[in-house]
Amino acid sequence: TIITRALLPLLLLIAASVQADDAALREKAESAGLEPIPYGLAEVKDNPVTREKIELGKMLFFDPRLSKSGVISCNTCHNLGTGGDDNLPTSVGHGWQQGPRNSPTVLNAVFNAAQFWDGRAEDLKAQAKGPIQAGVEMANEPEQVVETLNSMPEYVERFGRSFPGEDDPVSFDNMAKAIEAFEVTLVTPNSPFDQFLEGNDGALTDAQKQGLELYIDKGCTACHTGVNLGGQEYFPFGLVKRPGADILPPEDKGRYRVTETATDEYVFRAAPLRNIAITAPYFHSGEIWDLEQAVAVMGTAQLGAKLTDDEVTSIAGFLETLTGEQPLVEYPVLPVETDSTPKPKL
Ligand code: HEM
Ligand code: HEM
Repeated sequence: TIITRALLPLLLLIAASVQADDAALREKAESAGLEPIPYGLAEVKDNPVTREKIELGKMLFFDPRLSKSGVISCNTCHNLGTGGDDNLPTSVGHGWQQGPRNSPTVLNAVFNAAQFWDGRAEDLKAQAKGPIQAGVEMANEPEQVVETLNSMPEYVERFGRSFPGEDDPVSFDNMAKAIEAFEVTLVTPNSPFDQFLEGNDGALTDAQKQGLELYIDKGCTACHTGVNLGGQEYFPFGLVKRPGADILPPEDKGRYRVTETATDEYVFRAAPLRNIAITAPYFHSGEIWDLEQAVAVMGTAQLGAKLTDDEVTSIAGFLETLTGEQPLVEYPVLPVETDSTPKPKL
């Protein structure tokens, strides 16, 4: 009909301009440093990742006998069924003690420049030795962990295969390396946001695209960018306005404890934001349960800008597109204890 003949060029023009908008937004995101999760296993320093090591690391990740009590595993606080964290404000560990900080997700942790809220561990193998010894977490000692592993022939055999040619393969260091190898596999690719970056215009809704635009325009990408939208650099929490003592407890001075430099008081690693919609509660204190509220806090604390309710909703809507495909992990069958396995101590 005449109407469609007249309208068709107009519709085509609109479609073309929408596509051009999407391309421009994609380019803007890339210029702001945002990147999709890379394909394939990441490489880590001094630790070639092999199938044997990944399999062993998975067993160790799920093995509660690495803890003094025999009931706490890495998965207790980094539950792979719930986004790689524990859904608590701050973690509960040995003897039901409550620790001082919120458990960050292990998902995509391999892409962080350093580990922990204050970046005090250089990488995942350095990190893994911490919680096993921490009094409020697994409360064990390296000698006892090695004794436990040596008491089960299947572990001895698997360490031998994972670290071929070594004189003493069953060691605390190698345990950490195997766990690191497993953690390399804990990535969540293919989120709607990754799909959009890779060229699929339809992967985000118009509202989510607006949220992405705001996320960049408001300056969130100044701190939360790269593959993990964060996890790279350190900033004062409260750069512009310090949040209240409930959100920023005065006794946790963040990176100051690592560097003992006055300017590092209350400095923390810009938190990685991948899978953020499934890892409440928020901040190192874990005091905020609502993602929109966390975004609003960032506005006042970091940007010195009071974001409107609509802006907050829009940015939070974008953050929801960062939930990727969760790794499907088959629960490992663990070796059975022997007479020489140290007994659990509650
Ligand atoms: C931090 C892995 C056991 C609670 C981390 C991080 C990783 C990790 C990779 C850093 C993530 C990041 O910085 O983004 C592991 C492994 C464990 C283990 C491999 C077993 C060997 C536990 C347990 C608990 C726990 C049992 C709870 C009792 C925490 C907390 C933090 C943390 C609270 C943040 C601590 C801080 O920033 O000072 N863990 N974790 N983890 N994990 Fe674990
Ligand atoms: C933490 C979002 C701007 C630095 C967080 C968290 C979210 C978030 C949701 C909590 C992460 C978690 O609990 O796992 C945003 C948004 C921003 C923004 C949407 C823009 C509106 C900034 C800027 C900076 C910054 C500009 C640096 C100047 C940090 C730091 C943390 C954090 C250091 C960790 C705080 C802590 O220790 O608990 N951000 N952020 N953010 N952000 Fe931002």
